[in-house]
Amino acid sequence: MKQGAITAVVLGASGRGKLYGDYALEHPDELKIVGIAELVDLRRQMYGDKYGVPVENRVATWQEMLERPKFADAVIIATPDHLHYEPCMQAIDLGYDILLEKPIAQTLEQCKKLVEYARSKKKIVCLTHVLRYSPYFLKLKEMIDTGRIGDLVSIQHFEPVDHIHMSHSYVRGSWHDSVKSTPLVLAKSSHDLDILYWLIGKPCRRVVAFGGLDHFRSEYAPKGSPLRCTDGCAVESTCPFSALKIYYRDRTWLYVFDLPEEEPARGEAILQYLKTTDYGRCVYRCENDQPDHYVMSMEFEGNVTVNFSIEAFTSYSGRRTRIMGTRGDIVGDMEHFTLTDFATGEKMVYDANAEDAENYKGAGHGGGDAGMIRDWIEAVRRQDASVMSTPLDDSLESHIIAFAAEQSRKSGQIVEIER
Ligand SMILES: NC(=O)c1ccc[n+]([C@@H]2O[C@H](COP(=O)([O-])OP(=O)(O)OC[C@H]3O[C@@H](n4cnc5c(N)ncnc54)[C@H](O)[C@@H]3O)[C@@H](O)[C@H]2O)c1
Repeated sequence: MKQGAITAVVLGASGRGKLYGDYALEHPDELKIVGIAELVDLRRQMYGDKYGVPVENRVATWQEMLERPKFADAVIIATPDHLHYEPCMQAIDLGYDILLEKPIAQTLEQCKKLVEYARSKKKIVCLTHVLRYSPYFLKLKEMIDTGRIGDLVSIQHFEPVDHIHMSHSYVRGSWHDSVKSTPLVLAKSSHDLDILYWLIGKPCRRVVAFGGLDHFRSEYAPKGSPLRCTDGCAVESTCPFSALKIYYRDRTWLYVFDLPEEEPARGEAILQYLKTTDYGRCVYRCENDQPDHYVMSMEFEGNVTVNFSIEAFTSYSGRRTRIMGTRGDIVGDMEHFTLTDFATGEKMVYDANAEDAENYKGAGHGGGDAGMIRDWIEAVRRQDASVMSTPLDDSLESHIIAFAAEQSRKSGQIVEIER
């Protein structure tokens, strides 16, 4: 069904907020951004100018935006993790449909409450579990659902975080404190738990998890390292986590800063950020508590078993998955997978880049971002949540598993999931 563009108000104008702005610019017949709430003045102004948001609809906080009567079809919530629950509940109250960045909320109780509230008010709330829309995972699911590997028996899934990504997001950055944000297994891996649940198609019954924070701790701070990498660190030139190396010399992970394009102003602004924000701090002195290695085992209904690992200390990122069935297996790395048929010995190789190049390169997360936004817009247009591949009830399952894993990791017990 094709109609005019839906209108949306965006809360939070950083990485994710801009993604939706870019989508609106590229697809003006589908989405129009008509309001922005963003704390940082410069960011708000740049966002408003770039995406054509009327000046009167640019405000500093989500609260200010949601004090107004409803003036758009939908709200896109792209604020930090601790600012998902309240804005979403208020937006539902105002009658908006919602695109809610994951995770749903900071506690399981809030997650359940929100899902129930959205259902009772008949509002469309799409949680951004974008991997369900990536051609790679869609193909994996098709292979399982069409019986290509017989009955599904077991999965090994691995999420290599990459050591720099770990230091940026979970040691120095927004998720360094699991209580003020959300636990790593939810913040980073609700996608993976969602994919596992989706591939298996049955609920998880039992979980056990181990892991912890072993390296990014003050007792491992090298001799001669000050509080900030910019303060004359004796080991800066050999430290893999040097902020000067990551942000200033390599110019990576800069999306968190508001920077001028021209040099030398750009370089000077980066240095200033490193001197004044958490991104310049020594990784061994950050008051961080997120685990840097995490393993969990799960038993799903039907005795399907899963091992899942999240590892900080890798030189690569993405996902690696091995799926074992009674008549075949699949080995994949999120770009390619090989399916081997036990009876014939035949191998089928799937290459996401080659097979669905347009979708795959269309946006982030293996092409998943664009597919998800399109799906949600269609659901809002039709006022029919069943159009979406990510029903909110399904999204909740990954959160239930994540909170159970944390309970297990902290208690040392196997946690039975009761529904
Ligand atoms: N779906 C995915 O795959 C995916 C990927 C990355 C991030 N995320 C999630 O998306 C959310 C946003 O991520 P991000 O990387 O853009 O985060 P971010 O922290 O860079 O951006 C959040 C923005 O919200 C603004 N903000 C903070 N408090 C505010 C308030 N009271 N009112 C209005 N604006 C406020 C901040 O100034 C910032 O610009 C996070 O919850 C994150 O977990 C999801």
